[in-house]
Amino acid sequence: MKLFDVYPLNDITIEKALGAKVWDNNGQEYLDLYGGHAVISIGHTNPYYVKRIEDQLHKVGFYSNSIKIPLQVELAEKLGKVSGKEDYQLFLCNSGAEANENALKLASFYNGRKKIVAFSKSFHGRTSLAVATTDNPAIVAPVNATQNVSFLPFNDMQALEDHFKKEGEEISAVIIEGIQGVGGINVASNEFLQAIRRLCDQYNAVFIADSVQCGYGRSGKFYSQDFAGVNADVYSMAKGMGNGFPVAGISIAPKLHPKYGMLGTTFGGNHLACAAALAVLEVIEQDNLIQNAENIGNYLITELKKLPKIKEVRGRGLMIGIALPEELKDVKKNLLFKHKIFTGEAKPYVIRLLPTLNIGMKEADQFLTALKAELQ
Ligand SMILES: Cc1ncc(COP(=O)(O)O)c(C=O)c1O
Repeated sequence: MKLFDVYPLNDITIEKALGAKVWDNNGQEYLDLYGGHAVISIGHTNPYYVKRIEDQLHKVGFYSNSIKIPLQVELAEKLGKVSGKEDYQLFLCNSGAEANENALKLASFYNGRKKIVAFSKSFHGRTSLAVATTDNPAIVAPVNATQNVSFLPFNDMQALEDHFKKEGEEISAVIIEGIQGVGGINVASNEFLQAIRRLCDQYNAVFIADSVQCGYGRSGKFYSQDFAGVNADVYSMAKGMGNGFPVAGISIAPKLHPKYGMLGTTFGGNHLACAAALAVLEVIEQDNLIQNAENIGNYLITELKKLPKIKEVRGRGLMIGIALPEELKDVKKNLLFKHKIFTGEAKPYVIRLLPTLNIGMKEADQFLTALKAELQ
């Protein structure tokens, strides 16, 4: 059997990883500012994290959601505390798409409606409703297509107001990334997020903050939507939550009430996943990583804005987009193969920085030096 060939691959095999460093099978060291697509939040093979998962594995790795799992309760309490949403409720699942599926389904159960508002350049995942709310027709299969989703221009207050005036009574949910990731690091303005909150309240629609990529402290706040000073009704999270262990969840406002059987999953919230997620939150808290994301992010953004040829620097904390002109389209490839630095990308010609939240000035300067060389 061979692999189903859906990923264009770099010809690199990683065999070892530690912190923000990875090594290939020839012993070549790389600086990882991509974090395996924003997943590595507390550093590769973080020793505390490895030990917590290992210890758990020796006790019990998995049992289904038909029994009490105190680790889930511990995780909910910790997440409530670290995220500053202690009165919210946690439902655990396995991936970002699944988190958004559950968020959208829950919204529809809540208000009995079908229509969803999403935004241009959004990415919410590849399954059923998640892909239907993703603004990329190339990955929407005919069976996923639905008339229930409207795509409005991102950060356009007037279009949002007009749409609610027309269809407000039918809208179940508004789903938005506080900082669009796949779309190229576009920051939702505070005014726009505040308008979503106001209109959702006015029309009894559910505000879903997709925090799968921009959440978990990456922006310098636990949820990037927190910058706007308003609460969403549901936050979806995944990537940074398990530092590579597949775990995801939705944090749900008290006004949304659970019912037996309403949501469910086999693997979600298993013992190992909870141990991984707890280790991540403990390290984020102990090492003050949200503050570090803000500090190093501010430094990088300030320095990047001084560089020539760059069209635009966007983002917050350690979620940074560097928009380049077309003639510099090889910079990302050169950073990887010449300078041995992994970065992410978005179309067209945007370099995305999504490193572990504990990088320091040394790593930031290593990147800036390499990028300066490429811009010359
Ligand atoms: C904002 C956002 N939402 C949802 C997803 C989907 O997550 P997953 O790939 O874990 O299903 C992603 C993945 O890149 C994402 O960036």
